[in-house]
Amino acid sequence: MTQAPYPAARFRRLRRTPALRALVRETTLTVDDLIWPIFVRDGTNERDAVPSMPGVERVSIDLLVETAREAADLGIPAICLFPYTDPSLKTEACEEAWNPDNLSNRATRAIRDAGLDISIMTDVALDPYNANGHDGIVRDGIILNDESVDALVKMALAQAEAGADILGPSDMMDGRVAAMRAALESHGHKDVAIMSYTAKYASAFYGPFRDAVGASGALKGDKKTYQMDFGNRDEAMRLVERDLMEGADMIMVKPGMPYLDICAAVKSTFGVPTFAYQVSGEYAMLMGAAERGWLDGDRVMVESLSAFKRAGCDGILTYFAPRVARMLQA
Ligand code: PBG
Repeated sequence: MTQAPYPAARFRRLRRTPALRALVRETTLTVDDLIWPIFVRDGTNERDAVPSMPGVERVSIDLLVETAREAADLGIPAICLFPYTDPSLKTEACEEAWNPDNLSNRATRAIRDAGLDISIMTDVALDPYNANGHDGIVRDGIILNDESVDALVKMALAQAEAGADILGPSDMMDGRVAAMRAALESHGHKDVAIMSYTAKYASAFYGPFRDAVGASGALKGDKKTYQMDFGNRDEAMRLVERDLMEGADMIMVKPGMPYLDICAAVKSTFGVPTFAYQVSGEYAMLMGAAERGWLDGDRVMVESLSAFKRAGCDGILTYFAPRVARMLQA
């Protein structure tokens, strides 16, 4: 790169007007970049607020269909479903996870039946259904890997059967992507895509989410034996390579904002579809400050989401999806 010295080079020339700035902007946030995570609950015509996530609600399936329609009308390409599971359905063996008629699968079918032009992503992890609150099967205090993978495969097949377009394994067990891919191929679901939660860190930023899905109370201990240590970067690269070899179609980094270095490294090293999850705690942080008038909510929303694009992400899972989509549409 060669650069003329000042005064031949004046960087402020191209910052002078909105039009010039638009002309040279290197990355742009669009509605096509958004995946909207939505919390689903049981019942009819029910919606309740998630206190630690202002503006976010859990909705019953009938309202979910309307929400999905709204998302499709806004041009949001995908929604991601997270069920709030009744505590009475949580067991040590997690059987509800692969019940074809569990809340998540009924929700998927209802949206499919509405014929909406929107992709449905579902979460593959046992925590909503686990009496221990963990993402894997627990025996004698140990989170079992291979037994968990067997359960996750059954869960993945039930979700594909219900009509999910994208499966998001968020469990961080080893070998899950390969096992799921093989099962999907052999059960007639060869076109169901996998967005692997590849670099998912053991993070304190998931707190509000666990409240939203009712997992906070159930969780015994922490998730550090399967989610990544937040000091690690090389490990994330090895996991991306592993997941790609196992058949992942898309890679996700989670959380988002504190991990943009990982997003940038993944995209520049592998050049594959790369996504970030701006998680519940990040949303709560921005909304909490905005509600107090300490930050300008709209502006930090757009700036934070644009930063993901600049880091190289192809898209972002964000609770801001409908709000930013409305803003981009205006
Ligand atoms: C569960 C799961 C979690 C999130 C997505 N899937 C929580 C966890 O791992 O404890 C977090 C999302 C968020 O915080 O917004 N496997």
